[in-house]
Amino acid sequence: MSAQETSAPPVRQHSLDNSSASPVDGEQLTQVAVRVLTTPNAADKASLTHQTAHLWRDNRLQCSVATDNRPAAPARPARDDAVQLVEPRKMKSLGKGNTLQSRQRLVHSLVHIESWAVDLSWDIIARFGNDPSYRLPRDFFDDFVRVAEDECRHHELLRSRLEEMGSFYGAFPAHDALWDSAAATAHSLPARLAIEHCTHEARGLDVMPATILKFRGNGDEATAKLLEDIIYKEEITHCAAGVRWLKYLHTLAHESAEVDISHSAVEPEDGSSTADASGGTTASTAVAPWMEDARQFPRVEQWFHSLVKRYFKGNLKPPFNEAARAEAGFGPEWYMPIAAAAPGSAPAAAAAALQPQASLPEVAPAVPIATGA
Ligand SMILES: [Fe+2]
Ligand SMILES: [Fe+2]
Repeated sequence: MSAQETSAPPVRQHSLDNSSASPVDGEQLTQVAVRVLTTPNAADKASLTHQTAHLWRDNRLQCSVATDNRPAAPARPARDDAVQLVEPRKMKSLGKGNTLQSRQRLVHSLVHIESWAVDLSWDIIARFGNDPSYRLPRDFFDDFVRVAEDECRHHELLRSRLEEMGSFYGAFPAHDALWDSAAATAHSLPARLAIEHCTHEARGLDVMPATILKFRGNGDEATAKLLEDIIYKEEITHCAAGVRWLKYLHTLAHESAEVDISHSAVEPEDGSSTADASGGTTASTAVAPWMEDARQFPRVEQWFHSLVKRYFKGNLKPPFNEAARAEAGFGPEWYMPIAAAAPGSAPAAAAAALQPQASLPEVAPAVPIATGA
């Protein structure tokens, strides 16, 4: 155990600067979302999250497509130095949960993942909420404000549980691989939904039952119950939100006519920009790049397969939690055709049988595998 692991937990303090100022009546939701992302202190981030969710539910915040110079989502959310970060490959094994320190490490890693999940929820609102090409209705923002509040509650509950176990957030090193997928999908809402919510969060559903058993089997019923009764059930709804809005975008792309992308935040995948020589955006009516992409795929599952191949490194790992995935709204036709399996094995044969007829673009994968929140 390192010196850092044995030191006393830091006192939780709120910062006093204006970067985490409370939301006010009539403010734009996307603007407040940027403020949560640029708030470095976890307690301030949580406080802002709860205040914003409350105001949003009371219809006291606005959400209109940007026609002014609103602050953009930061490339990376602000973080204080409460947790020592290491490269994923240098992370020590979390263990099997058969010692107190192993269980502390497991809960610590979940606390850290949930903290990133809070930022990911606000990032999807801040980064894509102002883009008119997505035609996002209020339901979209309802869903992701709720997800942000859920993730914040998960972070706080697990953090309190970690302290009950005699440890604290920051006691162990952690890695930030989850943000790598966010960076790789920062140009595209469908890519973000496919990778963060339908892949990483779905993977979280696959491994959650075994994680719960790890705690229960080692006598830690309190952590097992917290995961089973609250977090697991709510994570299914987060996956469902990803599936729901990916389906929405696929339908929109196939049913709509051309869309004005003059204020689009979407960057074409070739790296070119819609900005004109004067630095402004070119007022034009055209099909947004993401729509052109979606229109290559008659079925949303095929589009999902293509997005995973482009933005996720490797195949999806079985075994899958079929019941939880079905509850979230996606069946085996979504994941079996891109599942990792040994040639000739039963899963490989099943995957081949479900493989869609349309060919998928061959694009280099970009993101390492990580487990979602
Ligand atoms: Fe969560
Ligand atoms: Fe989640």
